Amino acid sequence: MTAPEVSLRPLAASDGDTYASWSEDHRFCEHAGWTAGLPLTEHQAHWQKIITHPKPDHLRLAAVAGEQVVGYVDFAGDEPRRRELGYVIGPSDRWGQGLGSAVARLGLDYGFGQLGLDEIWAEAVDANHASVRILTSLGMSETGRGEDELFLGTPSFYRQFRIDRTAD
Ligand SMILES: CC(C)(COP(=O)(O)OP(=O)(O)OC[C@H]1O[C@@H](n2cnc3c(N)ncnc32)[C@H](O)[C@@H]1OP(=O)(O)O)[C@@H](O)C(=O)NCCC(=O)NCCS
Repeated sequence: MTAPEVSLRPLAASDGDTYASWSEDHRFCEHAGWTAGLPLTEHQAHWQKIITHPKPDHLRLAAVAGEQVVGYVDFAGDEPRRRELGYVIGPSDRWGQGLGSAVARLGLDYGFGQLGLDEIWAEAVDANHASVRILTSLGMSETGRGEDELFLGTPSFYRQFRIDRTAD
C-alpha cells in the first residue's frame, strides 16, 4: 500500500476539539481504550490540559495529512536515550488506509532523528492485529510478554518490541 502523505507537528490548541470529538466514535473508543460515555466537554477539558500542560515524560505530537489531524504519536518515559512509542489514528473510518503504518514510521524517524534516541520500544496487545502488524513491519524485534490486557472484551496480553538506532 502506498503510504499516505502524513507528517508530525507539535500539538496546537485547536487540535483539542478534534481529538475530543473522537470520543463520540464508539468503535474508536473500544479499540483505543478511551472511556466512552463521558460528556464531550470532559474530553475537551482533558485535551486542553494535555496540550497546555504536557508532562515532561510524555511528548505527544499531532499526525496530520494535509490540513487534517488524523492521529498522534507518543514518546513516553524519562530515560534520556530510550522512549516508548505509541500511535493512534482516528476516527475509526480512517483505519485500514495505511495511516497507522505511516505515522508509526514517522515516529521512529522523529525519535531517532529529532530526539536523538538510541532505542525505541513499543507494545501492542496480541489481539490488536493491526497494531502488532505495524510493529513487526517496522522491523522491530519482539522482546517479550507484557501484562495481561482485555481487548474488545477478550482476554489478551501485551507483546513488547524494540528497535535501536542502527537497525532503523
Ligand atoms: C492500530 C491502529 C493505529 C492501526 O491504524 P491503521 O491506520 O488502520 O493502520 P494501517 O492501515 O497502516 O494497517 C496496519 C497493518 O495492519 C493490517 N491490519 C489492519 N487491520 C487488521 C486486522 N483487523 N487484522 C489483521 N491485520 C490488520 C493492515 O493490513 C496493515 O498491514 P500491511 O501493512 O501488511 O498491509 C488504529 O487501529 C488505532 O489507532 N487503533 C486504536 C489505538 C491503538 O490500538 N494504537 C496502537 C497501540 S499504541
